[in-house]
Amino acid sequence: MTAHPRGRTVALVTGGSRGLGAAISQALARDGISVAINFNSSRAAAKEVRARITEAGGVAEIFQADVTRPDEVADLHTQIVATLGSIDVLVLNATGPQPDVELEDLTWGLMLDQLDYFVHSPLLLAQATVPAMCRQGFGRIISIGSEAFELGTPCSSAYVAAKGAQLGLTRSWARELGPAGITVNLVAPGFIPTERHAAVPQHDKDAYGAGVPLYRLGTPDDVASTVAFLASPHAGFITGQRIAVNGGHTL
Ligand SMILES: NC(=O)c1ccc[n+]([C@@H]2O[C@H](COP(=O)([O-])OP(=O)(O)OC[C@H]3O[C@@H](n4cnc5c(N)ncnc54)[C@H](OP(=O)(O)O)[C@@H]3O)[C@@H](O)[C@H]2O)c1
Repeated sequence: MTAHPRGRTVALVTGGSRGLGAAISQALARDGISVAINFNSSRAAAKEVRARITEAGGVAEIFQADVTRPDEVADLHTQIVATLGSIDVLVLNATGPQPDVELEDLTWGLMLDQLDYFVHSPLLLAQATVPAMCRQGFGRIISIGSEAFELGTPCSSAYVAAKGAQLGLTRSWARELGPAGITVNLVAPGFIPTERHAAVPQHDKDAYGAGVPLYRLGTPDDVASTVAFLASPHAGFITGQRIAVNGGHTL
């Protein structure tokens, strides 16, 4: 499905090489969107995502950049515009490590690590992409938050605080950018095992699933289809919202 007045929609998915970002990239491509798959270190995985998309008849290209670095975000933006066209849909998904740290061991540096991903990087990417969205009177910004903000997960206060900050950006930018035709929303997943959760014991996964009203763990596709909906014309009157994709875990 094409959401764009100019023709083919272009989306950037940060951290599109693995986990939720890979599923989001594929879901957007299935809807006819050209996808810029950003990765930092997993080039082979990003190539696999691109291959799955192009084999299914979609359009995608891969772009290496550390999205927490201003110079690399500027280059990333220039390369995507030159290759696929200006960015209409910005999916802020990338994450670094999320260490468990007790308060007594928490440092400002560890706090900044999380703010780099969930505040600094979104700021850099929004400032790069919003001017063109404003010019065309259309745009979508979709952040991947977390239920951790609602749950107040212990020993994760840096991550939880940064996830809360994402929601603040979402709400403020929704009001600020609404008159320009840009919607800004946040999708908040529950625990959704990806490659990085391979070491989590099965009984922990089962215990989490047992506490979910829909009585199962979520899948990357559960998140990806919600992002695709928000990127589509069907979601044109939704902005400033936090949509939980967690089987009702935080209802
Ligand atoms: N999975 C869950 O249970 C869950 C739950 C709630 C919220 N979330 C949120 O969902 C989002 C995705 O999480 P995930 O579980 O899919 O993570 P993941 O599997 O660890 O994937 C992280 C992605 O981010 C990329 N990345 C890391 N550092 C980067 C950087 N500096 N620049 C560009 N890309 C970078 C990685 O690419 P490279 O490998 O190429 O570096 C990878 O593609 C995050 O915002 C996370 O907080 C996830």
